[in-house]
Amino acid sequence: MKLTVNATKKYDIVSFPSFDRLAEEIKKKVRGKNVLIVSDDNVAPLYMKKTIDALTGFSVFTFVFPTGEKSKNVDTYLKIIGVLAERGFVRQDCVVALGGGVVGDAAGFAAATYMRGISFVQCPTSFLAMIDSSVGGKTAVDLPQGKNLLGAFYQPDLVYIAMETLRTLPEREIRCGMGEAVKYAFLSDSISPDLLKKGVTEELIFKCLKIKADVVEKDEFDKGARAFLNLGHTLGHAVEKLSDFSLSHGECVVKGLSKIIDMSAKKYSLSKEKKQRMVSLLALSGTEPDLPFDLSEVLRETVHDKKREEGGVNFVLLKDVGEPTSVLLTVEEAEALLQ
Ligand code: NAD
Ligand code: GLY
Repeated sequence: MKLTVNATKKYDIVSFPSFDRLAEEIKKKVRGKNVLIVSDDNVAPLYMKKTIDALTGFSVFTFVFPTGEKSKNVDTYLKIIGVLAERGFVRQDCVVALGGGVVGDAAGFAAATYMRGISFVQCPTSFLAMIDSSVGGKTAVDLPQGKNLLGAFYQPDLVYIAMETLRTLPEREIRCGMGEAVKYAFLSDSISPDLLKKGVTEELIFKCLKIKADVVEKDEFDKGARAFLNLGHTLGHAVEKLSDFSLSHGECVVKGLSKIIDMSAKKYSLSKEKKQRMVSLLALSGTEPDLPFDLSEVLRETVHDKKREEGGVNFVLLKDVGEPTSVLLTVEEAEALLQ
């Protein structure tokens, strides 16, 4: 399948069963001869050799770092930059991110900043990276003070999805991506419950991507409508932190969404039918929607997390499925809607 994203940089998202077409697709966009494949130590043993073998005609280098969010830091970023510099990469050469969102974000930030930007290809291997992080150009690493604090908007030149990588993805990671897929189903009714029931399919991936691409094309630099992609995330992030990251991001988004349904139903006096449609949709995520923490604790953490915003916390609420709206609420207003 194929989808073109018309951002400041126009690029294609393509999917193939394997990595076999990677060199051909990269050559359409990239003029350089050198490629650095960045991956983590879970994904590299599974797919590095296949990726290298597919890159015929290129001089291929690799950089592998320990898996997990803890590696999405300045140290990893500088190490990637170091390899690019030592190997004499120039702007036309290319960084390939082979992995989930952690690899994509860190490798993308290195690509964005080395020589003020070199060619960049995303090969997402997690469901979440396929439908979300590999597209839209947000690249970043974390600082000790917080997540994604050092980053840049930098669109890739190509997103290449090798569908075979989904076969090794652990169940927990599938559920994590499914939380985001259900989020998209709340943002647009182009994703039907029947499609969600089929699980991870190429059709679902591209339906999610179409929604994301449309939002990114409207608001690439996150000044307005792109905030809708944070549906369920405001409370979700707080739950993620309170669980000390033992719950996955997608699971927390589902829990956040569950409360957004309650808040929206109250604020917009939604009919029982509308609310029930939302509750049924959420159940398709496969994640238990209940909050494992006290509501007041979650709200406190939410306010702490978003303390830089003036006058309250921005929530994305739903007037209906496919009708998100951004609302600034004081803590008291949020509390009242959550009771
Ligand atoms: P991740 O990159 O840590 O991947 C999850 C786990 O799955 C890792 O252990 C990884 O090694 C493993 N894995 C990945 N693909 C695999 C495969 N095919 N087979 C077996 N194991 C595989 O996490 P993620 O959920 O992909 O991404 C989360 C990150 O993405 C966070 O850092 C988040 O901030 C970021 N993110 C960025 C954006 C964006 O727009 N840039 C959007 C959403 C999330
Ligand atoms: N994942 C949120 C965004 O891309 O804006």
